[in-house]
Amino acid sequence: MISKKMIESLKGGSEIRKMFEEGGRLKSIYGADNVYDFSIGNPDLEPPKEVFDALKELADNPTPGMHGYMPNAGYPSTRTIVAEKRGKEAGMEIGPDAVCMTVGAASAMNDVLHSILDPEDEVILLAPYFMEYNGYVANHGGKVVIVQTDDKFMPIIADIEKAITARTKAIIVNSPNNPSGVVYPAELLIELNDMLKKQDHTIYVISDEPYIDLAYDGASVPCALKYIDNLIICFSWSKSLSLPGERIGYTLVSPKCADFADLTGAIVLSNRTLGSVNAPAIWQKVIEKSIYAKVDVANYENRRNLLYSNIIDAGFDAVKPNGALYIFMNTPKGLDDGEFSSICAKHNLLLVKGSSFARPGYCRLAFCVSETSIRNSRKAFFAIAEELGLSHRAEL
Ligand SMILES: Cc1ncc(COP(=O)(O)O)c(C=O)c1O
Repeated sequence: MISKKMIESLKGGSEIRKMFEEGGRLKSIYGADNVYDFSIGNPDLEPPKEVFDALKELADNPTPGMHGYMPNAGYPSTRTIVAEKRGKEAGMEIGPDAVCMTVGAASAMNDVLHSILDPEDEVILLAPYFMEYNGYVANHGGKVVIVQTDDKFMPIIADIEKAITARTKAIIVNSPNNPSGVVYPAELLIELNDMLKKQDHTIYVISDEPYIDLAYDGASVPCALKYIDNLIICFSWSKSLSLPGERIGYTLVSPKCADFADLTGAIVLSNRTLGSVNAPAIWQKVIEKSIYAKVDVANYENRRNLLYSNIIDAGFDAVKPNGALYIFMNTPKGLDDGEFSSICAKHNLLLVKGSSFARPGYCRLAFCVSETSIRNSRKAFFAIAEELGLSHRAEL
């Protein structure tokens, strides 16, 4: 029999997965072009040319042992290149010992939480947040403490401070954010660091950065390494290089971090004992050769613009996202997010309820879907607005 804990977890199911299945059902009835499925954040751009060139070069020039076991932290050469890149961006000296190559950001987060949490230790999450964090924290015996952000989804430092207890071990920060797409300004990171420095015990900031290269309108994402002392980065190339299926990422512990040597050692041990053992060998080598490449960010920006215009022109409200792959729109007219998503589904428009991100009253739309689908969805947004009695702000 499976564990009681898993029986409980299985009951919850996944809202996104349910929407994904509903999308498949609707597409089989109405045809793919007539269903507007904004439920899944699956990066749909192809990886850049540098990635394919590197793969080909590796396949054409095999070296003995290239598929063998390696140090659990990954190839020293890959870790050196990662450390150099992040060090240059932050204007600080970072050595390869700060880096552990991981099986994506999900594995990076699990390695970090496993390394720092004792049973019942608390981890602060800033809502709305990526719902998988609940599972990651629970995996390692921790307790989630939710702190809401303001109406522009910016963290309120005083509210975070109020949530801190003697058991607070870490706070997870995710900018650009899934699901809101907002980017936290440098001043906010400085304010967070100042507040944390005043506390009587170390509280780590875990910066979950899979969207750091997806920023729009010329914005660049402030470098958390510069502003936060007790910082642990969890990164993946799932979005930056469109490689989510390949599972490649890293943890990077700031040289300014308390217990640097213990922490980096614990993360490597966690990587081994949690079962990844090491990140995929080929992909570490590909990254060495293509670390400065990026997907076509302008393509995502164009689709963000189109979807955002549909929402606003039809008469709905949303904070315009500066990054990531999502728009987190307000549910209109006091409707709860369940009622609103059901109305949208009647118009073949699928989105994910804000309650799934611990922020009711909103719904998330992923814009990594075809431009045709976004363009075709405009009439559905207008029809839903009409059904709800909203005034349009522009012509259809
Ligand atoms: C905020 C956030 N963190 C972590 C992850 C996990 O990333 P990866 O696929 O690299 O494990 C995702 C994936 O969508 C995400 O949105």
